[in-house]
Amino acid sequence: MRKILILSLVTISFLSCNQQTTKKIKSSNPIEQKVDSVLNLMTLEEKIGQMNQYNGFWDVTGPVPSAGDAAKKYEHLKRGWVGSMLNVRGVENIRKVQKIAVEDSRLGIPLIIGFDVIHGYETQSPIPLAESASWDLEAIKKSAQMAAKEASAAGINWTFAPMVDISRDARWGRVMEGAGEDPYLGSQIGIARVKGFQGKDLSDPHTIAACAKHFTAYGFAESGKDYNTADIGLSTLYNTILPPFKSAHEAGVKTFMNSFNELNGIPATGDKFLQRDILKGEWNYEGFVVSDWGSIMEMIDHGYAENKNHAAELAANAGSDMDMESYAYVNELASLVKEGKVSEEVITDAARRILKVKFELGLFDDPYKYCNVEREKEVIGSKEIIDAALDMAKKSIVLLKNEDNILPLKKNGQKIALIGALASDKNSPLGNWRIAAKDDSAVSVFEGMKAYVGNELNYAEGATLYAGKTNFPSELVLNTTDKSKFQEAINIAKKADVVVMVLGEVGYQSGEARSRAKLDLPGLQQELLETIFKVNKNIVLVLNNGRPLTITWADENIPAIVEAWQLGSQAGNAIAQVLYGDYNPSGKLPMTFPRSVGQVPIYYNYKNTGRPGPKKEVFWSHYQDESNKPLYPFGYGLSYTSFEYKNLKTKVELGNIKISVDVTNTGILKGKEVVQLYIRDLVASVTRPVRELKGFELVEFNPSETKTVTFELTKDELGFYNNQRKFVVERGEFQIFVGGSSDTTLKNTVEYK
Ligand code: GLC
Repeated sequence: MRKILILSLVTISFLSCNQQTTKKIKSSNPIEQKVDSVLNLMTLEEKIGQMNQYNGFWDVTGPVPSAGDAAKKYEHLKRGWVGSMLNVRGVENIRKVQKIAVEDSRLGIPLIIGFDVIHGYETQSPIPLAESASWDLEAIKKSAQMAAKEASAAGINWTFAPMVDISRDARWGRVMEGAGEDPYLGSQIGIARVKGFQGKDLSDPHTIAACAKHFTAYGFAESGKDYNTADIGLSTLYNTILPPFKSAHEAGVKTFMNSFNELNGIPATGDKFLQRDILKGEWNYEGFVVSDWGSIMEMIDHGYAENKNHAAELAANAGSDMDMESYAYVNELASLVKEGKVSEEVITDAARRILKVKFELGLFDDPYKYCNVEREKEVIGSKEIIDAALDMAKKSIVLLKNEDNILPLKKNGQKIALIGALASDKNSPLGNWRIAAKDDSAVSVFEGMKAYVGNELNYAEGATLYAGKTNFPSELVLNTTDKSKFQEAINIAKKADVVVMVLGEVGYQSGEARSRAKLDLPGLQQELLETIFKVNKNIVLVLNNGRPLTITWADENIPAIVEAWQLGSQAGNAIAQVLYGDYNPSGKLPMTFPRSVGQVPIYYNYKNTGRPGPKKEVFWSHYQDESNKPLYPFGYGLSYTSFEYKNLKTKVELGNIKISVDVTNTGILKGKEVVQLYIRDLVASVTRPVRELKGFELVEFNPSETKTVTFELTKDELGFYNNQRKFVVERGEFQIFVGGSSDTTLKNTVEYK
């Protein structure tokens, strides 16, 4: 009944819009007219209500609010003082809260239901950093599409993804959630994810609104410590950090989320420069900004707000449109408007942005369109979604080393020893952001390898990795003493033709609030690896991890190393298919691997400095006790075949730079190669990096096949932002590099006039 009332009210006032001037200039856009007609019906408190987001009663992904506030949620829902909820699980529960909002409140404005669908809802695809290693934009887009399909079937219509934070620091646990260290790769992947989640028509019930987060510089937290201070110059902000956000905006992302950190002394949530001057001003962004969990209130701890009232005033005036779980807007904004500290236009503008997304989702037409129990049963865990997760997982694997072609493994007649706690772990492959997946629902490596029945497969844990099996451990208790299971592992290794060791991190050792000061193999794993190596050198090391690790000893001693990240629900099947050669690995690193944590932050697009090296005398930029070089560079990854690059040609034509290169598959297997294009601007008014990724092509080759791969760089792709935030393209010499990794030496020099 109520729903019909609001719809008729909207229709009447929509029609009346055409006869009378509205409070806002009449827009030709029907959605904007409907938004205005609803706004014209709303009280100040109801507009503020749209700016209020509560966590569901069923789950938390941040500090739990005090009981008093939580108890008010139900009352505020009935009064129409809640615009959105997050972490409500399942169609039944979402229908419950939507029914209260739509049928009990005065205007019946539907809720938008948010959830961290970061790499899947219940079925998990690989963690985003792993997906990024595929450099396969179509597969990444498909993966987001499948996540949206499953999440929308579960009643969700808004995801807090893609996270597009650039980071150069593997100590930061949230590197698992992004696309690594490069702004160009990060931008392309951000676009693919936004398009995957939102599709072509947001009113399609299989699509969900996306959210570019965390705005901004969150990945530049000092010393890789989560939530820590970020202090950077405008050139880094504009040339490295902002591009993926701008690309997500240009791809039509419907929402942004700001970040916990301060940037140059101002908490992002209260930063007018970021949210109003850049995002809503320079970029003319028309979506809405949601604060991160409690970040409005956290401005008090930052030392930027005196109290909750001051925090609400700062955040609203700075352009934070929706308050996630601070209870600041719902309790303080009305009085701030009455005192003239926040204008009603700020409130109306925020409510307008939020209502617009709800209209675009079709929630006013049918608030229950995402609440279909039959569809939920039919779609969640469907074959289409599982197959996509497996496909994405295989493409995310990076082959780091393969001496004497120990890989792919023979499928018959082999005695294989499989060792490591992670080899049988069905939880960790789901990663940290698996909050809707069932515990222990991933296919383990052990299960994946058992499917290859031609070999004798023996398994031993070797060493427990961590105590306890809680599904949301705030503190992991790593085993650093109990070696009681070593002997069993030694015994099976002695008798094996090949040893496969699955080592790395458990799912909760990366992700939010999981920074590490060390990047080695946690617990007893390194000792186990060296112990097994003593009895059998034929080891294939399979890494399961959420961040680059300093596996320098392994690189020096172990013949084969496979980077298999946390690959989601189909992890074990994907890893087995790569180890046995049913899929030829094609991944490339989206983030540099350091030799030691002392090198961090380490990244490929560094500046040359005034004292580059190596030099004979001591006065150049280097360490006395470590190389400047990474263990594995950005863009690096091997294949079971090999590729040769020849005949690089470059020419400037009509103001663009045309590039071509011949690439040959010199091996006997079919394989894919990510052909990468880098530039170096040798002299500029602001120093430029020694390399900048400006293009890539994922190309498949038959054995012995040669293809000519071409790129074209426009003038703007040679440009950069200077320290006055001005985009400039400067004439001069550019080096053009092409290859299968950022350390390629195949280059030409062109004069850009
Ligand atoms: C968390 C995260 C953010 C997430 C939000 C809702 O603290 O920082 O990325 O979307 O809260 O769960």
